[in-house]
Amino acid sequence: MASAGRGQWSGKAGFILAAAGSAIGLGNIWRFPYTAGENGGGAFVLVYLAFVLLIGVPVVLSELSIGRFTKLNPVGAFKKLAPGTNWKWLGGLGVLTGFGILAFYSVIAGWTLSYLWGAITGQVGGVTTAEQSNAVFEALIGGSLVPVILTAIFMAMTILVVRGGVSNGIERATKILMPTLLVMLVVMAIRAMTLDGGGAGIAYLFQPDFSKLSVDVIMAALGQALFSLSLGMGAMITYGSYFPDRENLPQAGIVVAFFDTGIAILAGLIIFPALFSVGVDPSAGPGLVFVVLPSIFAQLPAGGLFAIAFYFLLTIAALTSTISLLEVVVAYFVDEKQWDRKKASLWIGLACLVFAVPSALSQGAVGGLTDFLGTGVTYLDIQNIIWGNYSLSIGALGLCIFVGWKWGIPSALEALEASGHKLQGHTLWSILVRFVCPVAVGAILVYIMITQQYF
Ligand code: TRP
Repeated sequence: MASAGRGQWSGKAGFILAAAGSAIGLGNIWRFPYTAGENGGGAFVLVYLAFVLLIGVPVVLSELSIGRFTKLNPVGAFKKLAPGTNWKWLGGLGVLTGFGILAFYSVIAGWTLSYLWGAITGQVGGVTTAEQSNAVFEALIGGSLVPVILTAIFMAMTILVVRGGVSNGIERATKILMPTLLVMLVVMAIRAMTLDGGGAGIAYLFQPDFSKLSVDVIMAALGQALFSLSLGMGAMITYGSYFPDRENLPQAGIVVAFFDTGIAILAGLIIFPALFSVGVDPSAGPGLVFVVLPSIFAQLPAGGLFAIAFYFLLTIAALTSTISLLEVVVAYFVDEKQWDRKKASLWIGLACLVFAVPSALSQGAVGGLTDFLGTGVTYLDIQNIIWGNYSLSIGALGLCIFVGWKWGIPSALEALEASGHKLQGHTLWSILVRFVCPVAVGAILVYIMITQQYF
């Protein structure tokens, strides 16, 4: 009895861990705060939360149902469910998007590594002003060779894990490391919120100023909801395919979505109070979190050690996300093109590294990349927007149409509930997947095309 109970629990826990590992990462701790800061704070956050509930949760369940039923990579899954049709291209877009996201995500993961190094060598310590913090950022990220090398190191780590299949070791490690990260975030949030002037940050995060809403703020919120939950490119199709048949899949999916969103809000409760207290501009862009965090460590007892532990855990959180990105691309080449897993991991990872180089150089080392083709944003920002916002939205739109209208809700529901655990509120889910999500996402994309507010 006892062992059967334990076995069941660990089956579901294993999935939740892997899926949460994919979802929780730089998207929560780096992307969410800087995107919220660029888009005016409270109103963006509110729209983001609404999208998590109305679009994120239904799409998580849709992807998982496809994964559980087909037990295949995204391209293979669509081929199996709709043979001889063009739906496979939707899976193909997902694979391409995974590659595109990995090519800039690994750059930011490289920044995390350099802050880990800076924390170890003491460079990150003792920062109390925005100027000092900017100087540290410049010293760690601003060069040309260093960011590229760090990206390469991080890509090598990702390749090594994906090469061997996601190992038990990593799974077991995340079981301890992720809760530790959570505890550290709570400590940091408490410290940040009690800083002088910290209250202004909480207000910025939660008091919506609706005059700040525009179509690009809404687009950014949609992109962020999908990005943070690892949706719109088939990562959850792949992860759902590993879910034990007897376990409660709908519940596990919903738990992951809430957990992930909670971590993003927690990160906001750290960054915004700290940012107001140090006097950093909320719309500082992708460097925001890296510039703001050191000021918190300086305010904590044993801050230097705390910083080392934090950047270490953030590196692991980023790694469990990049694994899922590379895994989707590798799974495609292994399943559909019969490539050897080891070779696929290496060559796809290396190719991705080549595409990552311009993003790595975009923080000042190469002028043309800091204001790419006169768009006013960096090359890295553009990658982030193209793959992280547009491509994921198009993917989610296609997925809802597929599940809602082609494959059909009854089949998807049957797959979701295969273990006998019912999805509470499945009528609501069906309405969201068939009508609300396609109309909302479609309308946003069409509006953006008409008004041409791309960046
Ligand atoms: N969700 C991850 C994060 O927040 C990033 C990520 C991993 C991702 N896999 C993905 C985003 C698939 C979109 C799709 O850091």
